[in-house]
Amino acid sequence: MPEIIIANHSTDALNRAIGKLRAGELVAIPTETVYGLAADATSGEAVAKIFATKQRPSFNPLICHVDGVVMAQQYGKFDMIAERLANTFWPGPLTLILPLVPESGIHDLVTAGLDSIGLRCPRGFSRQVISAFGRPLAAPSANRSGRISPTTAQHVAADFAGTDLLILDAGACEAGLESTIVKIDGNRLILLRPGVITAEEIADVAGKPVDLPDTDGKVLAPGMMKSHYAPDAQVMLDCETCPDGAAWLGFGNRAKPANAAEGLNLSETSNLVEAAANLYAYLKQLDESGADLICVSPIPREELGIAINDRLQRAAAPRPSKSGEPG
Ligand code: TXA
Ligand code: MG
Repeated sequence: MPEIIIANHSTDALNRAIGKLRAGELVAIPTETVYGLAADATSGEAVAKIFATKQRPSFNPLICHVDGVVMAQQYGKFDMIAERLANTFWPGPLTLILPLVPESGIHDLVTAGLDSIGLRCPRGFSRQVISAFGRPLAAPSANRSGRISPTTAQHVAADFAGTDLLILDAGACEAGLESTIVKIDGNRLILLRPGVITAEEIADVAGKPVDLPDTDGKVLAPGMMKSHYAPDAQVMLDCETCPDGAAWLGFGNRAKPANAAEGLNLSETSNLVEAAANLYAYLKQLDESGADLICVSPIPREELGIAINDRLQRAAAPRPSKSGEPG
């Protein structure tokens, strides 16, 4: 069974986590975005446990979590813009995809054999764990593949019931949405995944525009596959009304339709930050209410609303099966 311990910055919690990681075991870590399922990024066996536990297709590369720019530079080649972005946004919800330093010691299961690496420095106790461990941690979101990303330790425990796993509990995640992913490709900046840090903020700091991924059908970030964040219920966006018995996920001051079976509001004051933080927990709660359909009221496609709509669109995408999707 998963074991949840409070990650209160105590040496006891730190030592428990380090012990597991040294032994090649997984530890679920709290970050400011979502909980991560972490392993020593230099150990193939440890990293393989991530894929096995998540039941994730192995072509999907993992983000390497570091404690700062100095550690990151051992693994990724930083140009001036990468350095500026890291210095501005780290620790924080920005993942940089950079050229991989050859022979860096990162296991190629982490990069899925690519010659690039995703690096990010998280905020909070997980950063302390990385510093104490002295090596980067590979960590995808701590959910089974294709399921909703966890924003509490209890979500992680529920998804991995029956698995022997240490979970560090630091309460609900502050951001509630996965990190923004930007690829630095030659002199281009490409937004692979929208997130809390917006493309505009990144362009401002970089002093150059941020492009969207080429739409030639090539998958740049495999996690950007259409059906990715998938509750069991069907999800419908931009609803003004809903059929009888559906669950309702509202936003702003519009009231829940009287015929909805269940209803939650992401933010009654139309606050996008609050909505992002509530998104996954509320989707889960409505999904668990047993409704077949979750109707979502319109959420503005601006600022953080772009990332929220992006995740909701993935949750709403048609899917061939519940278990066969990456996550
Ligand atoms: O906020 C987050 O980023 C969370 C927390 C745990 O840090 N992590 C997370 O990881 O969302 P995951 O594995 O669910 O998503 C990582 C994404 C995937 O879409 C993956 O394809 C992409 O990052 N990625 C990782 N390395 C890459 C690389 N070298 N090139 C392109 N995409 C990469
Ligand atoms: Mg994920």
